[in-house]
Amino acid sequence: MRIFENMESRVRGYIRSFPVIFKSAKGSIMVDEMDKEYIDFFAGAGTLNYGHNNDQISQAMIEYLKSDGIVHGLDMATIAKKNFLQKFYDTILEPRNLEYKMQFTGPTGTNAVETSLKLARMVKGRSNIVCFTNGYHGLTMGALAITGNNFYRDEAYISRSNVTFMPYDGYMGPDYNTLDLFKKMLTDNASGLDLPAAVILETIQAEGGVNIARAEWLKELANICWEFDILLIVDDIQVGNGRSGDFFSFEEAGIKPDIVTLSKSIGGGLPLAFILIRPDLDQWKPGEHTGTFRGNNLAFVASYQALHYWDTIDLSEAVKYKGAVMEKELLAIAEKFPEINAEVRGRGMIYGLEIPERGLAGQISEKCFENGLVIELAGADNQVIKFLPALTIDEGTLLRGIGIVDQSIGEILQEKKENLTGEM
Ligand SMILES: Cc1ncc(COP(=O)(O)O)c(C=O)c1O
Repeated sequence: MRIFENMESRVRGYIRSFPVIFKSAKGSIMVDEMDKEYIDFFAGAGTLNYGHNNDQISQAMIEYLKSDGIVHGLDMATIAKKNFLQKFYDTILEPRNLEYKMQFTGPTGTNAVETSLKLARMVKGRSNIVCFTNGYHGLTMGALAITGNNFYRDEAYISRSNVTFMPYDGYMGPDYNTLDLFKKMLTDNASGLDLPAAVILETIQAEGGVNIARAEWLKELANICWEFDILLIVDDIQVGNGRSGDFFSFEEAGIKPDIVTLSKSIGGGLPLAFILIRPDLDQWKPGEHTGTFRGNNLAFVASYQALHYWDTIDLSEAVKYKGAVMEKELLAIAEKFPEINAEVRGRGMIYGLEIPERGLAGQISEKCFENGLVIELAGADNQVIKFLPALTIDEGTLLRGIGIVDQSIGEILQEKKENLTGEM
């Protein structure tokens, strides 16, 4: 590992949670250079919904490269892009009766978020943006300003202006409708809230600790936005692409956001990001928001293949089925270890096991890695173990992975008990 320590910045992160050198991966299994296998419950932070080195996706990319297809084309017209646009329209937009223009941005999620904020501010001629507690939208300046976690928000480099945080659904406990506060502040002339250009949110806050907004809350928020002429932006970068059980996470609530951000798994494992824009909001001048890597053609080829998973409802049904398996198994773990006071939350195939004792979730995820499972933490204090397996994982591997969590919790509790008796 010395080369990484010597040459890479201290900022490196995941390499610290998973301190081995990975060699290869297939589906939901990663292999390190010592040939040890790990089940992957992290899926590239939601980028590998279709698994590592998915056969169809890899094959399509190999053929494209062999045929000397255009790889880099700025935003010029290419066959790969044309096929992707048509496939996205036919498979995703048209069947859902959604009318959106598409704008390709720089290749990562945060680029899509920046673009959505810039467009909303330009169209509405207002600068304020409302975002939510525990939200995570990326770490470039604009996206960072609407990201809640203090760990990222060093006062020296963040612009804290033009943003207002509101409490997310459930933030004040189950009996308090947080939208009452938002409505009150919008209608009260002395609340100090500048009428925002847009509200941006994740329908399921992934990095924020697997917090789920209820469908009624989302509907009410959409109505408030409509009533007060505020744009609604759904950041579907992590929980879109089928993670919730539907292609878009907002489908269940029956709302139609004005702008949607997509990245991570939309590229079939390659970097790709774009926003969906209600057509009348597409008010850019040609070239006004540009960039060199907007729409990588190899990613279009990968994405085109990945979209075949949405030709039928099979994947959607599989996600709902496997999500139910995850819920049942995690509830059983919470019941088996009452001393950890775990709470289970989730929808589709994103689940969180919240463990209030400070540091315990971290100890468990470390033990999981020792036992052959890649799994990450979420939440303001890293208090939530986040389950994010590939949507295509087979049930046996899914159960084996959850079994490793069960075993690891048992081992950690046993070690704690032994330490305690040793001390006495
Ligand atoms: C909801 C959401 N938005 C934006 C981002 C930022 O994406 P990226 O890390 O690709 O810039 C993330 C990343 O985790 C995310 O989960």
